[in-house]
Amino acid sequence: MNLFDMTGRVGVVTGAAQGMGKAMATAWAEAGADVVIVDRNAGGLAATAADIAALGRRALPFTCDLADLAQVDRLWATVDAEFGRVDCLGNVAGDAKAGPPETATIEDLQFTLQCLVVSKFFMCQHAGKRMLARGRGSIINIGSLASVSALGRGHAFYSMGMGAVVQMTRELSTEWASGGVRVNAILPAQVVNPGLQARMDADPALRDRFLMGIPAGRLGHPSDIKGLSIFLASDASPWITGAIIPMDGGNLAMNGGGSVRPPQLARV
Ligand SMILES: NC(=O)c1ccc[n+]([C@@H]2O[C@H](COP(=O)([O-])OP(=O)(O)OC[C@H]3O[C@@H](n4cnc5c(N)ncnc54)[C@H](O)[C@@H]3O)[C@@H](O)[C@H]2O)c1
Repeated sequence: MNLFDMTGRVGVVTGAAQGMGKAMATAWAEAGADVVIVDRNAGGLAATAADIAALGRRALPFTCDLADLAQVDRLWATVDAEFGRVDCLGNVAGDAKAGPPETATIEDLQFTLQCLVVSKFFMCQHAGKRMLARGRGSIINIGSLASVSALGRGHAFYSMGMGAVVQMTRELSTEWASGGVRVNAILPAQVVNPGLQARMDADPALRDRFLMGIPAGRLGHPSDIKGLSIFLASDASPWITGAIIPMDGGNLAMNGGGSVRPPQLARV
């Protein structure tokens, strides 16, 4: 199991106050890493930090809005000052605006692309140049089934941003592979989080519609990302880069897509 050992490694994980970011940060700590945890939700970060401390690892919470690039610069200055290195980046956080594409505003598109493309790229750039200087590192970008399938239901901007995450991953992996830096992407299907739960509570048919596209027969849990996160960040995957890995209970394999509504209900 030494291949999966992350003792002495330093990770940075965004979106770590809850959901898949929290699960990834906790998984890395369970494997032995210290983790800089980043989110705009300070209370959630404190809870994640307590979980990591209970594992005997160091957690450094950093509260910021990742869409504000000046705050991202301050994050990396803190990483340099506190740890002086980064071994792995979990680029998890991502926000988006939804709405019918024929009426949605360009401001909403710009907000979405700022969160999903510009901010995520800026995080990769900060991490990548530090990793290249040391000749090693692993970056994990979180995309979505929306990176490869249309969702409908007002998700055009989200899909446009998530599609870019996949090409960003391919380009950066190609540029940086010879420098020892690996860049991969995980594409989850529906993973239960508070926002998704609220939507399913408001529309009782929604869970079954999602499940029609998931042959595994259940929605995802944030903890489903733990093993894959350790695998990609650790020495267990030394020749894996540029991989676009579905984490979707079989959705992509059966071309299940986003399970759009019947046409007569096709608006948000
Ligand atoms: N849950 C799903 O079904 C699913 C499926 C595919 C892709 N994704 C993507 O995976 C990512 C994580 O999903 P999740 O279910 O864990 O989400 P979540 O809503 O449970 O958690 C997201 C976290 O990111 C933080 N965050 C978002 N924007 C931020 C910003 N600009 N600055 C700082 N923090 C910010 C939030 O505060 C929150 O703590 C998202 O980008 C999401 O779009 C989710």
